[in-house]
Amino acid sequence: MENTASQKKGKKPVVLSCIQPTSVPTLGNYLGALKNWKKMSEEYDCVFAVADLHALTVHPEPAKLRQQILEMYAIMLSIGLDPEKNITFIQSQVHAHAELAWILNCYTQFGEASRMTQFKEKSQKHADNINVGLFSYPVLMAADILLYQANYVPVGADQKQHLEIARDIAARFNQIRGETFTLPEPYIAKVGAKVMSLQDPTQKMSKSDPNPKASISLLDTPDVIIKKFKSAVTDSEACVRYAEGKDGINNLMGIYSCCTGLDFDQIEKEFEGKGYGDFKVKVAQAVIEELKPVQENFSRYMSDKAYLLDTAKKGAEKAEAIAARTLYKAKKKVGLPI
Ligand code: TYM
Repeated sequence: MENTASQKKGKKPVVLSCIQPTSVPTLGNYLGALKNWKKMSEEYDCVFAVADLHALTVHPEPAKLRQQILEMYAIMLSIGLDPEKNITFIQSQVHAHAELAWILNCYTQFGEASRMTQFKEKSQKHADNINVGLFSYPVLMAADILLYQANYVPVGADQKQHLEIARDIAARFNQIRGETFTLPEPYIAKVGAKVMSLQDPTQKMSKSDPNPKASISLLDTPDVIIKKFKSAVTDSEACVRYAEGKDGINNLMGIYSCCTGLDFDQIEKEFEGKGYGDFKVKVAQAVIEELKPVQENFSRYMSDKAYLLDTAKKGAEKAEAIAARTLYKAKKKVGLPI
């Protein structure tokens, strides 16, 4: 990875990413994003947040949202993020996010926001609730990223367009008001960036899929994981190989590769002459092994809510100190009193 100003000064690159607390994360969230957060947290200066303000766009029930925010924070710690070495916090506890988002709204064109694929898809799916928050969702994302002058943003492939608009907004602001924000780059892994539904492998695995068999939740028990993989949709060729048109098998191979570190050639060799039944069970077992420590840590963290709340608060204080500096700069640049 090459990068910009912060490295030139000999500082470690800054990494930022967030996840919405809309429900327990799926294996897609984990392999596409969270697993890379953990890897990057060992090398870079990392900032990770629960994006609870983003979750308001779908009008969650308040008590449920409160619980899900806490659970998502516990998941962040359970995947192995160290709150002492990284900044881990809850987005709404740092007011600079909403404040910078407003300023950036004024530097975002209606046309470019209208072109966002996720906005179009979500508007189509939920035609009864196309709120303005949903429309400016990517602008709040831009604020999350730019406040910390992030160099890299580890996300799944579905967030690439949102990263591009964040970069465009930053570049426009810098051009009009002078150098203020670092231009962020997406970090999208080669394998795992788009984990597909187990029931319709042409669609991405999603937390909101009404068919429970379509996705693996990070907290699914081993029995459930085995059952879901056994019923995964594949094809009739009965040969484990990566090829166009074999979406189901390609997806399972991607999952197996992420969990075992094997590449596709090695996987094809391992399953030469074996049927899909064997392969599915092996994939399920690899996923169970991968999730075991996360699940164990999760029960431990959830039994100490006071620790979670306190750690999140401390994380927010550390985040606030950085975010306030950028917000100050942006306010000054646009002419607001500071
Ligand atoms: P969310 O909660 O929808 O998704 C969290 C992360 O999971 C990735 N992801 C996937 N990766 C691979 N395969 C899948 N099937 C799959 N489904 C989801 C997403 O790409 C994402 O990385 N809008 C963001 C949250 C956010 C954010 C930010 C991210 C808010 N502010 C600032 C980066 C920077 C989102 O998609 O959350």
